[in-house]
Amino acid sequence: MSEQRNNSTPPRATNASGAAGSAGRQAGMAQESIRNFCIIAHIDHGKSTLADRLLELTGTVEKREMKAQILDKMDLERERGITIKLAPVRMKYHPKFTNSHLPIHTNLPDGIYQTKDQSKKMTNEKLMANGKWQMENGSTQEFELNLIDTPGHVDFSYEVSRSLEAVEGAVLVVDASQGIQAQTLANVYLALAADLKIIPVLNKIDLPAANVDKVSAEVISLLGCKKDDILLVSAKTGEGVTNLLDRIVELVPPPSGQPDAPTRALIFDSYYDDYRGVILYVRIIDGQIAKNSAIKMMATGAEGIALEVGSLSPEMRPTKDLKTGETGYVVTNLKTTHDARVGDTVTLSAVHQSISPLPGYKHVQPFVYAGFFPDSNENYQVLKDAVEKLSLSDSALQFAPENSPVLGFGVRIGFLGLLHMDIVRERLEREYGLELIITNPSTDYKVKTTGGQETDIKSATELPDPSEITEISEPWVKGEIVTPNQYVGAVLQLIINARGLQKHIGYVDAQLAVIDFEAPLANLLTDFYDQLKGGTSGYGSFNYELDDYRPEDLVRLDFYVAGDKVDALSIMVHRTEADRVARNAVGKLKDVIPRQNFKVAIQAAIGGKFIAREDISAYRKDVTIGLYGGDVSRKKKVLAKQKKGKERMKRFGKVDIPAEAFAVMLRRD
Ligand code: GTP
Repeated sequence: MSEQRNNSTPPRATNASGAAGSAGRQAGMAQESIRNFCIIAHIDHGKSTLADRLLELTGTVEKREMKAQILDKMDLERERGITIKLAPVRMKYHPKFTNSHLPIHTNLPDGIYQTKDQSKKMTNEKLMANGKWQMENGSTQEFELNLIDTPGHVDFSYEVSRSLEAVEGAVLVVDASQGIQAQTLANVYLALAADLKIIPVLNKIDLPAANVDKVSAEVISLLGCKKDDILLVSAKTGEGVTNLLDRIVELVPPPSGQPDAPTRALIFDSYYDDYRGVILYVRIIDGQIAKNSAIKMMATGAEGIALEVGSLSPEMRPTKDLKTGETGYVVTNLKTTHDARVGDTVTLSAVHQSISPLPGYKHVQPFVYAGFFPDSNENYQVLKDAVEKLSLSDSALQFAPENSPVLGFGVRIGFLGLLHMDIVRERLEREYGLELIITNPSTDYKVKTTGGQETDIKSATELPDPSEITEISEPWVKGEIVTPNQYVGAVLQLIINARGLQKHIGYVDAQLAVIDFEAPLANLLTDFYDQLKGGTSGYGSFNYELDDYRPEDLVRLDFYVAGDKVDALSIMVHRTEADRVARNAVGKLKDVIPRQNFKVAIQAAIGGKFIAREDISAYRKDVTIGLYGGDVSRKKKVLAKQKKGKERMKRFGKVDIPAEAFAVMLRRD
């Protein structure tokens, strides 16, 4: 690969933009030689591993510098093997083919080309007629491939939809041992809606469990493609990956923006760097952004300077500008990502014509909330500063101070889902050394009161007095479950148990069903996913999006420990589910609250009426009881451990309540 690149004689460009030819990045790449694409897949089907191979085969990253999932830059992403943030990367590639079978794009760079079969030189004009791309010296034309790796988890689907707007093609990766799953479908719908060229790929063909025929049939019936259109690949061994690169050059259309039009660039990601400020990842749709230009965000109105622009290969490589059709980064002097949100359009401050922003900007709203409290009030400021810092680079994160009689000062944070919450918790604990107590996650509720006001509450404790409430609405989602046929019955039961409504059953093919349903979000938050996996032997998968708020018979469930109400434990439930949830919760609390040297009653109540109770019998816990013999230091160690455990407890009245009790609803049965 790299040898070919060194040999290539760069042709002169005569393309419409008047841009210089493909003589390397400094001069900019002719628009026709650019291919922008992303990889879409269900979680764990191998996107990041495939991206690694693409980087390796194009020589973007040397093999010895390669580490697994190189685009997953955060430690957390590597440890968990999941992609959280998008990572755009630019590669150079010389296809291994002549393009006799390709559609001819207009405005190919001018040059002398030679066909392999006829050994004839030809000008660009002839080349157009003949459709050959191989150059005189035997090397082929250089293409710029811009890849955006996307996160697969439903919490981050907004980021996926933005990245699809930044590309012309999508490599659809399907694990040949798993087949089509819910996010495969959701992503395909998004890609079709964005009018992308989809290149289907079956990955993991090296696995003994790979079932190429079965999964190919699923893909054919989903996309209506031919069997030959599906590439067979092993991202692990690299088999088939060169073919994929060729296919991308061949099938993904070059970008079609207007170089002379006023600048419009789509922000598909932004983050905050401690040293450099807000950095945008953009796709230039029209015009260009040069270093030092004054830029303006159309939705937020924020203005700043493009202090540096460039591409990621995958590390930052500054260039003098970013041209029409390219993706790259812009280092700005903005102070927070709230000024430059994903989906916004960047233009130049100098542009005074009225231009319309790029479509699709959406203000992402969190819809899962939880209270985060430090282990002691002294650390409140550290927590507040840390959350503020994280929110600079995570525009989906919202927070407000919260005060609880039991837990003291804390913040209530809004998230896009439980994975998002888990990631933020782990970052706060890891990067800021905080010990946190987290409350049960809750959705928000819209409450109408007798005075005619409507308020939005984000925790059960904010609920007004029941006598003032006329209506409470909760968020519902529209969901889609993909499951092998034989589990449809079990899945329908699961939907009913979650108070959901089954809407439609369709089939990808004879074996694979797609169930559309609606359900209250609150009932999908805790163990729905686990139950789905359990009920379908691991094959079921689901995807959802927020639909609307529906009025329901909702009540606040309070918990009493040793006779005192513990506000931080309160949750909202549907009246028909209150008994079951209450019994389940007091049972779980009994498991996690340690015995005291007196009997402790744990009770659940609605509006002062008790509906469930468990007692923890008196017991003076001697953790050294099983340690007969041995030396004294071992006993001391165990006692020290117990003491440390105590530090994470919250003393409430006479009872110590451990941190995990406050998020007991997340505990698996
Ligand atoms: P997210 O980033 O979480 O969305 O997942 P992903 O789709 O990027 O998947 P990832 O690349 O992290 O791969 C998931 C797992 O599958 C990892 O353990 C990979 O090593 C493995 N894997 C990926 N491709 C192949 C392959 O071709 N063959 C085999 N045997 N394993 C593979």
